[in-house]
Amino acid sequence: MKDIRFTYSYALESSTLESYKTETQSALRTLVKGTGAGNDFLGWLGLPMDIRKQVAAIRDCADRLRAQCEVIVCVGIGGSYLGAKAVIDALQPAFAWLEGRKPQIVYAGNNISEDYLYELQNLLRKKQFGIICISKSGTTTEPALAFRLLKMQLEEQAGKATAKERIVCITDAKKGALRTLATQEGYDTFVIEDNIGGRFSVLSPVGLLPIACAGLNINALLDGAERMMNCCTSSETDFEDNPALLYAAARNHLYRQGKKIELLVNYHPKLHFVSEWWKQLYGESEGKEHKGIFPASVDFTTDLHSMGQYVQDGERHLFETVISVQEPNEKVVVPSDKDNLDGLNFLAGKRVDEVNKMAELGTRLAHTDGGVPNLLIELPALNEYSIGELIAFFEVGCGVSGYMLGVNPFNQPGVEAYKKNMFALLHKPGYEEATAAIEARINNK
Ligand code: PA5
Repeated sequence: MKDIRFTYSYALESSTLESYKTETQSALRTLVKGTGAGNDFLGWLGLPMDIRKQVAAIRDCADRLRAQCEVIVCVGIGGSYLGAKAVIDALQPAFAWLEGRKPQIVYAGNNISEDYLYELQNLLRKKQFGIICISKSGTTTEPALAFRLLKMQLEEQAGKATAKERIVCITDAKKGALRTLATQEGYDTFVIEDNIGGRFSVLSPVGLLPIACAGLNINALLDGAERMMNCCTSSETDFEDNPALLYAAARNHLYRQGKKIELLVNYHPKLHFVSEWWKQLYGESEGKEHKGIFPASVDFTTDLHSMGQYVQDGERHLFETVISVQEPNEKVVVPSDKDNLDGLNFLAGKRVDEVNKMAELGTRLAHTDGGVPNLLIELPALNEYSIGELIAFFEVGCGVSGYMLGVNPFNQPGVEAYKKNMFALLHKPGYEEATAAIEARINNK
Protein backbone atom coordinates (compact mmCIF):
# COMPACT_ATOMS: atom_id res chain seq x y z
CA MET A 1 0.00 0.00 0.00
CA LYS A 2 1.26 3.49 -0.84
CA ASP A 3 1.42 6.02 2.00
CA ILE A 4 -0.02 9.51 2.02
CA ARG A 5 2.60 12.18 1.26
CA PHE A 6 2.98 15.75 2.49
CA THR A 7 4.85 18.36 0.39
CA TYR A 8 5.39 22.07 0.85
CA SER A 9 7.34 23.27 -2.19
CA TYR A 10 4.68 25.84 -3.20
CA ALA A 11 4.76 27.38 0.27
CA LEU A 12 8.27 27.58 1.67
CA GLU A 13 11.91 26.60 1.22
CA SER A 14 13.19 23.38 2.72
CA SER A 15 15.84 25.34 4.66
CA THR A 16 13.06 27.36 6.32
CA LEU A 17 11.25 24.18 7.29
CA GLU A 18 14.49 22.58 8.48
CA SER A 19 14.86 25.43 11.00
CA TYR A 20 11.77 24.06 12.80
CA LYS A 21 13.25 20.58 13.26
CA THR A 22 14.25 20.98 16.91
CA GLU A 23 11.03 22.74 17.88
CA THR A 24 8.74 20.16 16.27
CA GLN A 25 10.73 17.22 17.60
CA SER A 26 10.57 18.68 21.09
CA ALA A 27 6.77 19.15 20.77
CA LEU A 28 6.47 15.54 19.56
CA ARG A 29 8.47 14.29 22.55
CA THR A 30 6.16 16.23 24.87
CA LEU A 31 3.18 14.58 23.18
CA VAL A 32 4.51 11.03 23.10
CA LYS A 33 6.01 11.08 26.59
CA GLY A 34 2.85 12.69 27.95
CA THR A 35 4.64 15.54 29.71
CA GLY A 36 2.56 18.43 28.34
CA ALA A 37 -0.74 20.11 29.15
CA GLY A 38 -3.75 17.85 28.62
CA ASN A 39 -1.67 14.70 29.06
CA ASP A 40 -4.66 12.89 30.54
CA PHE A 41 -6.26 12.95 27.06
CA LEU A 42 -3.69 11.01 25.06
CA GLY A 43 -5.52 7.68 24.74
CA TRP A 44 -6.03 8.32 21.00
CA LEU A 45 -2.31 7.83 20.37
CA GLY A 46 -2.67 4.08 21.03
CA LEU A 47 -6.17 3.62 19.58
CA PRO A 48 -5.33 1.99 16.24
CA MET A 49 -3.63 -0.82 18.15
CA ASP A 50 -5.60 -0.89 21.44
CA ILE A 51 -9.04 -0.99 19.84
CA ARG A 52 -8.31 -4.19 17.89
CA LYS A 53 -9.57 -6.34 20.75
CA GLN A 54 -13.00 -4.71 20.37
CA VAL A 55 -13.25 -4.99 16.60
CA ALA A 56 -15.05 -8.35 16.63
CA ALA A 57 -17.69 -7.05 19.07
CA ILE A 58 -18.12 -3.84 17.05
CA ARG A 59 -18.57 -5.82 13.84
CA ASP A 60 -21.04 -8.24 15.46
CA CYS A 61 -23.11 -5.33 16.70
CA ALA A 62 -22.95 -3.66 13.27
CA ASP A 63 -24.01 -6.90 11.55
CA ARG A 64 -27.00 -7.19 13.87
CA LEU A 65 -28.11 -3.61 13.20
CA ARG A 66 -27.51 -4.02 9.46
CA ALA A 67 -29.68 -7.12 9.39
CA GLN A 68 -32.55 -5.46 11.27
CA CYS A 69 -32.59 -1.87 10.01
CA GLU A 70 -33.30 -0.04 6.79
CA VAL A 71 -32.07 3.16 8.41
CA ILE A 72 -29.63 3.64 11.28
CA VAL A 73 -29.77 7.03 12.98
CA CYS A 74 -26.45 8.16 14.49
CA VAL A 75 -27.30 10.55 17.27
CA GLY A 76 -24.38 12.73 18.36
CA ILE A 77 -22.72 16.13 17.90
CA GLY A 78 -19.18 17.43 17.37
CA GLY A 79 -16.61 14.72 17.94
CA SER A 80 -19.43 12.27 18.53
CA TYR A 81 -20.50 12.24 14.86
CA LEU A 82 -18.09 14.15 12.61
CA GLY A 83 -15.45 11.41 12.32
CA ALA A 84 -17.98 8.75 11.34
CA LYS A 85 -19.67 11.04 8.82
CA ALA A 86 -16.30 12.06 7.36
CA VAL A 87 -15.23 8.45 6.75
CA ILE A 88 -18.62 7.20 5.57
CA ASP A 89 -19.13 10.08 3.13
CA ALA A 90 -15.58 9.74 1.78
CA LEU A 91 -15.92 6.01 1.09
CA GLN A 92 -19.58 5.35 0.25
CA PRO A 93 -20.88 5.80 -3.30
CA ALA A 94 -22.03 9.40 -3.70
CA PHE A 95 -25.60 8.35 -4.49
CA ALA A 96 -25.88 5.44 -2.05
CA TRP A 97 -29.09 6.93 -0.68
CA LEU A 98 -30.74 6.82 -4.13
CA GLU A 99 -29.48 3.32 -4.93
CA GLY A 100 -31.69 1.88 -2.22
CA ARG A 101 -28.70 0.53 -0.28
CA LYS A 102 -29.56 -0.71 3.17
CA PRO A 103 -29.02 0.35 5.77
CA GLN A 104 -28.78 4.06 5.17
CA ILE A 105 -26.91 6.00 7.84
CA VAL A 106 -28.51 9.31 8.81
CA TYR A 107 -27.65 11.76 11.57
CA ALA A 108 -29.55 13.51 14.34
CA GLY A 109 -28.69 15.35 17.54
CA ASN A 110 -26.22 17.50 15.62
CA ASN A 111 -28.58 20.48 15.52
CA ILE A 112 -31.75 21.67 17.28
CA SER A 113 -33.80 22.32 14.16
CA GLU A 114 -37.47 21.48 14.68
CA ASP A 115 -38.07 21.05 10.95
CA TYR A 116 -35.11 18.66 10.66
CA LEU A 117 -36.42 16.50 13.48
CA TYR A 118 -39.99 16.61 12.18
CA GLU A 119 -38.91 15.56 8.70
CA LEU A 120 -36.65 12.81 10.07
CA GLN A 121 -39.42 11.46 12.27
CA ASN A 122 -41.77 11.52 9.31
CA LEU A 123 -39.33 9.56 7.16
CA LEU A 124 -38.69 7.01 9.92
CA ARG A 125 -42.42 6.34 10.30
CA LYS A 126 -42.21 4.23 7.14
CA LYS A 127 -38.91 2.53 8.01
CA GLN A 128 -37.45 -0.22 10.15
CA PHE A 129 -34.87 1.85 11.99
CA GLY A 130 -32.27 1.61 14.72
CA ILE A 131 -30.38 4.19 16.79
CA ILE A 132 -26.74 4.56 17.80
CA CYS A 133 -26.68 7.25 20.48
CA ILE A 134 -23.20 8.67 21.09
CA SER A 135 -22.33 11.10 23.85
CA LYS A 136 -19.19 10.95 25.96
CA SER A 137 -20.58 13.17 28.69
CA GLY A 138 -24.02 11.65 28.25
CA THR A 139 -25.55 15.03 29.02
CA THR A 140 -25.21 17.08 25.82
CA THR A 141 -28.51 18.77 25.04
CA GLU A 142 -28.68 18.30 21.27
CA PRO A 143 -28.26 14.48 21.20
CA ALA A 144 -30.24 13.99 24.42
CA LEU A 145 -33.22 15.82 22.90
CA ALA A 146 -33.07 13.92 19.61
CA PHE A 147 -32.63 10.59 21.41
CA ARG A 148 -35.65 11.18 23.62
CA LEU A 149 -37.85 11.77 20.54
CA LEU A 150 -36.44 8.90 18.47
CA LYS A 151 -36.36 6.35 21.28
CA MET A 152 -40.05 7.01 22.02
CA GLN A 153 -40.90 6.77 18.34
CA LEU A 154 -39.03 3.48 17.93
CA GLU A 155 -40.72 1.98 20.99
CA GLU A 156 -44.12 3.03 19.65
CA GLN A 157 -43.44 1.70 16.17
CA ALA A 158 -41.60 -1.54 16.94
CA GLY A 159 -42.41 -2.26 20.58
CA LYS A 160 -40.09 -1.94 23.55
CA ALA A 161 -38.43 -5.35 23.14
CA THR A 162 -37.49 -4.79 19.48
CA ALA A 163 -36.42 -1.21 20.24
CA LYS A 164 -34.04 -2.60 22.84
CA GLU A 165 -32.39 -4.78 20.19
CA ARG A 166 -32.00 -1.83 17.84
CA ILE A 167 -30.60 0.79 20.23
CA VAL A 168 -26.89 0.96 21.04
CA CYS A 169 -25.35 3.62 23.29
CA ILE A 170 -21.72 4.76 23.26
CA THR A 171 -20.83 6.74 26.35
CA ASP A 172 -18.72 6.95 29.50
CA ALA A 173 -18.23 3.70 31.43
CA LYS A 174 -19.93 5.01 34.57
CA LYS A 175 -21.00 8.68 34.48
CA GLY A 176 -23.74 10.63 32.76
CA ALA A 177 -27.45 10.44 32.05
CA LEU A 178 -26.97 8.30 28.94
CA ARG A 179 -25.08 5.66 30.95
CA THR A 180 -27.84 5.63 33.57
CA LEU A 181 -30.53 5.34 30.90
CA ALA A 182 -28.70 2.61 28.96
CA THR A 183 -28.18 0.55 32.12
CA GLN A 184 -31.80 1.00 33.17
CA GLU A 185 -33.14 -0.01 29.74
CA GLY A 186 -30.59 -2.82 29.22
CA TYR A 187 -29.22 -1.43 25.95
CA ASP A 188 -26.00 -2.70 24.39
CA THR A 189 -23.21 -0.22 25.02
CA PHE A 190 -19.64 0.60 24.08
CA VAL A 191 -17.41 2.77 26.21
CA ILE A 192 -15.60 6.01 25.33
CA GLU A 193 -12.50 5.92 27.49
CA ASP A 194 -11.87 8.87 29.80
CA ASN A 195 -8.54 9.63 28.15
CA ILE A 196 -9.98 10.18 24.65
CA GLY A 197 -11.56 13.53 23.79
CA GLY A 198 -14.51 13.65 21.39
CA ARG A 199 -12.59 15.15 18.48
CA PHE A 200 -9.91 12.44 18.75
CA SER A 201 -12.41 9.57 19.03
CA VAL A 202 -13.05 8.51 15.42
CA LEU A 203 -10.92 5.36 15.80
CA SER A 204 -12.80 4.32 18.95
CA PRO A 205 -16.30 2.72 18.91
CA VAL A 206 -17.63 6.30 18.44
CA GLY A 207 -16.52 6.22 14.81
CA LEU A 208 -15.97 2.52 14.20
CA LEU A 209 -19.50 1.30 14.94
CA PRO A 210 -21.29 3.66 12.50
CA ILE A 211 -18.53 3.10 9.93
CA ALA A 212 -18.96 -0.69 10.23
CA CYS A 213 -22.76 -0.22 10.00
CA ALA A 214 -22.16 1.49 6.64
CA GLY A 215 -20.48 -1.72 5.46
CA LEU A 216 -16.94 -0.33 5.43
CA ASN A 217 -13.78 -2.22 6.39
CA ILE A 218 -12.76 -0.97 9.83
CA ASN A 219 -9.71 -3.24 10.01
CA ALA A 220 -8.25 -1.62 6.88
CA LEU A 221 -9.01 1.83 8.36
CA LEU A 222 -7.14 0.86 11.52
CA ASP A 223 -4.26 -0.65 9.51
CA GLY A 224 -3.72 2.67 7.75
CA ALA A 225 -4.05 4.62 11.00
CA GLU A 226 -1.62 2.30 12.80
CA ARG A 227 0.94 2.61 10.03
CA MET A 228 0.79 6.44 10.06
CA MET A 229 0.56 6.73 13.85
CA ASN A 230 3.76 4.67 14.16
CA CYS A 231 5.51 6.65 11.43
CA CYS A 232 4.57 10.06 12.87
CA THR A 233 5.20 9.31 16.56
CA SER A 234 8.42 7.29 16.31
CA SER A 235 11.64 9.01 17.34
CA GLU A 236 13.30 6.83 14.67
CA THR A 237 11.51 8.66 11.85
CA ASP A 238 13.67 11.46 10.44
CA PHE A 239 12.17 14.95 10.47
CA GLU A 240 12.15 15.01 6.63
CA ASP A 241 10.19 11.72 6.56
CA ASN A 242 7.66 12.65 9.24
CA PRO A 243 4.63 14.18 7.49
CA ALA A 244 2.98 15.29 10.74
CA LEU A 245 6.10 17.21 11.84
CA LEU A 246 6.52 18.80 8.41
CA TYR A 247 2.86 19.87 8.41
CA ALA A 248 3.03 21.27 11.95
CA ALA A 249 6.24 23.14 11.09
CA ALA A 250 4.86 24.56 7.84
CA ARG A 251 1.55 25.77 9.24
CA ASN A 252 3.15 27.34 12.33
CA HIS A 253 5.74 29.08 10.18
CA LEU A 254 3.03 30.49 7.93
CA TYR A 255 0.96 31.54 10.95
CA ARG A 256 3.94 33.40 12.40
CA GLN A 257 4.28 35.18 9.03
CA GLY A 258 0.71 36.51 9.39
CA LYS A 259 -1.18 33.78 7.56
CA LYS A 260 -3.93 33.42 10.14
CA ILE A 261 -6.39 31.33 8.10
CA GLU A 262 -5.83 27.83 6.73
CA LEU A 263 -8.13 26.68 3.96
CA LEU A 264 -8.36 22.92 3.65
CA VAL A 265 -9.05 22.29 -0.02
CA ASN A 266 -10.42 19.19 -1.73
CA TYR A 267 -11.24 18.40 -5.34
CA HIS A 268 -13.73 15.61 -4.55
CA PRO A 269 -17.10 16.45 -2.97
CA LYS A 270 -16.92 13.20 -0.98
CA LEU A 271 -14.22 14.81 1.14
CA HIS A 272 -16.45 17.67 2.32
CA PHE A 273 -16.98 16.15 5.75
CA VAL A 274 -13.30 15.24 6.13
CA SER A 275 -12.87 19.02 6.16
CA GLU A 276 -15.68 19.44 8.70
CA TRP A 277 -14.00 16.85 10.96
CA TRP A 278 -10.60 18.55 10.48
CA LYS A 279 -12.11 21.97 11.32
CA GLN A 280 -13.30 20.67 14.67
CA LEU A 281 -10.01 18.87 15.33
CA TYR A 282 -7.86 21.94 14.71
CA GLY A 283 -10.31 24.67 15.72
CA GLU A 284 -11.19 23.17 19.09
CA SER A 285 -7.59 22.15 19.77
CA GLU A 286 -5.83 25.40 18.85
CA GLY A 287 -8.31 28.25 19.18
CA LYS A 288 -7.41 29.33 22.71
CA GLU A 289 -5.99 32.26 24.65
CA HIS A 290 -6.80 34.51 21.67
CA LYS A 291 -4.42 32.49 19.50
CA GLY A 292 -4.67 29.90 16.75
CA ILE A 293 -4.98 29.46 13.00
CA PHE A 294 -8.62 29.76 11.89
CA PRO A 295 -9.46 26.48 10.11
CA ALA A 296 -11.72 26.96 7.10
CA SER A 297 -12.44 24.82 4.08
CA VAL A 298 -13.51 24.92 0.45
CA ASP A 299 -14.63 22.30 -2.06
CA PHE A 300 -12.96 22.94 -5.42
CA THR A 301 -13.64 23.34 -8.25
CA THR A 302 -17.18 24.10 -6.97
CA ASP A 303 -16.09 26.93 -4.68
CA LEU A 304 -13.68 28.40 -7.21
CA HIS A 305 -16.87 29.83 -8.68
CA SER A 306 -17.81 31.49 -5.41
CA MET A 307 -14.75 31.88 -3.19
CA GLY A 308 -12.09 31.83 -5.91
CA GLN A 309 -12.02 35.61 -6.32
CA TYR A 310 -11.35 36.19 -2.62
CA VAL A 311 -8.68 33.50 -2.41
CA GLN A 312 -6.87 34.84 -5.48
CA ASP A 313 -7.19 38.51 -4.72
CA GLY A 314 -8.61 39.31 -1.29
CA GLU A 315 -6.80 40.00 1.98
CA ARG A 316 -3.51 38.06 2.12
CA HIS A 317 -4.01 36.25 5.40
CA LEU A 318 -4.62 32.81 3.87
CA PHE A 319 -2.71 29.69 3.11
CA GLU A 320 -4.10 26.51 1.60
CA THR A 321 -3.62 22.82 2.35
CA VAL A 322 -4.79 20.81 -0.63
CA ILE A 323 -5.86 17.17 -0.29
CA SER A 324 -5.15 15.61 -3.66
CA VAL A 325 -6.48 12.12 -4.45
CA GLN A 326 -3.92 10.50 -6.74
CA GLU A 327 -6.04 7.78 -8.35
CA PRO A 328 -9.83 7.87 -8.59
CA ASN A 329 -11.66 4.59 -8.02
CA GLU A 330 -13.61 4.83 -11.27
CA LYS A 331 -12.90 5.80 -14.87
CA VAL A 332 -14.85 8.24 -17.07
CA VAL A 333 -13.40 9.34 -20.43
CA VAL A 334 -14.55 12.48 -22.27
CA PRO A 335 -16.13 11.37 -25.57
CA SER A 336 -15.42 12.99 -28.91
CA ASP A 337 -18.34 14.74 -30.66
CA LYS A 338 -18.25 15.15 -34.44
CA ASP A 339 -20.13 18.48 -34.32
CA ASN A 340 -18.11 19.85 -31.39
CA LEU A 341 -20.75 22.50 -30.79
CA ASP A 342 -19.61 22.91 -27.17
CA GLY A 343 -15.97 23.27 -28.30
CA LEU A 344 -14.85 20.55 -25.92
CA ASN A 345 -13.12 18.22 -28.38
CA PHE A 346 -9.74 19.37 -27.04
CA LEU A 347 -10.63 17.23 -24.02
CA ALA A 348 -11.79 14.18 -26.01
CA GLY A 349 -10.06 10.98 -24.94
CA LYS A 350 -8.94 12.45 -21.63
CA ARG A 351 -10.15 11.13 -18.32
CA VAL A 352 -12.30 13.50 -16.26
CA ASP A 353 -9.69 13.17 -13.52
CA GLU A 354 -7.03 14.61 -15.83
CA VAL A 355 -9.19 17.70 -16.24
CA ASN A 356 -9.66 17.84 -12.46
CA LYS A 357 -5.91 17.45 -11.87
CA MET A 358 -5.10 20.27 -14.28
CA ALA A 359 -7.66 22.46 -12.54
CA GLU A 360 -5.93 21.56 -9.27
CA LEU A 361 -2.42 22.31 -10.51
CA GLY A 362 -3.49 25.46 -12.34
CA THR A 363 -5.24 26.72 -9.20
CA ARG A 364 -2.31 25.90 -6.90
CA LEU A 365 0.04 27.84 -9.21
CA ALA A 366 -2.37 30.78 -9.50
CA HIS A 367 -3.00 30.98 -5.77
CA THR A 368 0.72 30.69 -4.99
CA ASP A 369 1.36 33.53 -7.45
CA GLY A 370 -1.41 35.48 -5.75
CA GLY A 371 0.32 35.23 -2.35
CA VAL A 372 -1.48 32.17 -0.96
CA PRO A 373 1.15 29.58 0.00
CA ASN A 374 0.09 26.04 -0.90
CA LEU A 375 0.74 22.90 1.10
CA LEU A 376 -0.15 19.52 -0.39
CA ILE A 377 -1.31 16.20 1.02
CA GLU A 378 -1.34 13.43 -1.56
CA LEU A 379 -3.78 10.65 -0.82
CA PRO A 380 -3.05 7.54 -2.95
CA ALA A 381 -6.76 6.66 -3.24
CA LEU A 382 -10.12 7.02 -1.57
CA ASN A 383 -10.08 3.80 0.43
CA GLU A 384 -10.15 2.79 4.10
CA TYR A 385 -6.38 2.44 4.40
CA SER A 386 -5.57 5.92 3.04
CA ILE A 387 -8.30 7.59 5.08
CA GLY A 388 -6.96 5.81 8.19
CA GLU A 389 -3.52 7.22 7.43
CA LEU A 390 -4.97 10.69 6.88
CA ILE A 391 -6.74 10.60 10.25
CA ALA A 392 -3.60 9.63 12.16
CA PHE A 393 -1.50 12.19 10.26
CA PHE A 394 -3.92 15.01 11.11
CA GLU A 395 -4.25 13.93 14.75
CA VAL A 396 -0.50 13.80 15.44
CA GLY A 397 -0.01 17.02 13.45
CA CYS A 398 -2.64 18.65 15.63
CA GLY A 399 -1.07 17.61 18.94
CA VAL A 400 2.39 18.79 17.82
CA SER A 401 1.06 22.00 16.33
CA GLY A 402 -0.92 22.84 19.49
CA TYR A 403 2.16 22.45 21.65
CA MET A 404 4.16 24.64 19.23
CA LEU A 405 1.47 27.28 19.61
CA GLY A 406 1.77 27.05 23.38
CA VAL A 407 -1.79 25.94 24.19
CA ASN A 408 -3.34 22.82 25.71
CA PRO A 409 -4.57 21.09 22.55
CA PHE A 410 -6.81 18.67 24.44
CA ASN A 411 -9.27 20.84 26.36
CA GLN A 412 -12.16 22.99 25.11
CA PRO A 413 -13.08 25.49 27.87
CA GLY A 414 -14.64 27.91 25.35
CA VAL A 415 -17.51 25.64 24.33
CA GLU A 416 -19.24 26.01 27.70
CA ALA A 417 -20.10 29.73 27.36
CA TYR A 418 -23.09 29.32 25.01
CA LYS A 419 -24.42 26.36 27.00
CA LYS A 420 -24.56 28.39 30.22
CA ASN A 421 -26.57 31.13 28.49
CA MET A 422 -28.87 28.64 26.75
CA PHE A 423 -29.63 26.80 30.00
CA ALA A 424 -30.24 30.08 31.82
CA LEU A 425 -32.61 31.23 29.08
CA LEU A 426 -34.45 27.87 29.16
CA HIS A 427 -34.78 28.02 32.97
CA LYS A 428 -32.86 24.81 33.61
CA PRO A 429 -32.90 23.97 37.34
CA GLY A 430 -29.64 25.06 38.97
CA TYR A 431 -29.22 28.08 36.66
CA GLU A 432 -31.51 30.49 38.58
CA GLU A 433 -28.77 33.07 39.21
CA ALA A 434 -27.60 32.99 35.61
CA THR A 435 -31.23 33.31 34.46
CA ALA A 436 -31.76 36.44 36.54
CA ALA A 437 -28.50 37.96 35.26
CA ILE A 438 -29.16 37.21 31.60
CA GLU A 439 -32.78 38.43 31.74
CA ALA A 440 -31.64 41.69 33.35
CA ARG A 441 -29.05 42.09 30.61
CA ILE A 442 -31.58 41.49 27.84
CA ASN A 443 -34.19 43.81 29.40
CA ASN A 444 -31.63 46.62 29.69
CA LYS A 445 -30.94 46.58 25.94
O1 PA5 B 1 -14.61 17.20 20.96
C1 PA5 B 1 -15.39 17.44 21.85
O2 PA5 B 1 -15.10 17.25 23.04
C2 PA5 B 1 -16.79 17.93 21.57
O3 PA5 B 1 -16.99 18.29 20.27
C3 PA5 B 1 -17.79 16.85 21.89
O4 PA5 B 1 -17.52 15.74 21.10
C4 PA5 B 1 -19.22 17.32 21.67
O5 PA5 B 1 -19.45 18.50 22.36
C5 PA5 B 1 -20.19 16.26 22.11
O6 PA5 B 1 -19.97 15.93 23.44
P1 PA5 B 1 -20.54 14.60 24.04
O7 PA5 B 1 -19.92 13.47 23.31
O8 PA5 B 1 -20.16 14.65 25.48
O9 PA5 B 1 -22.04 14.63 23.85
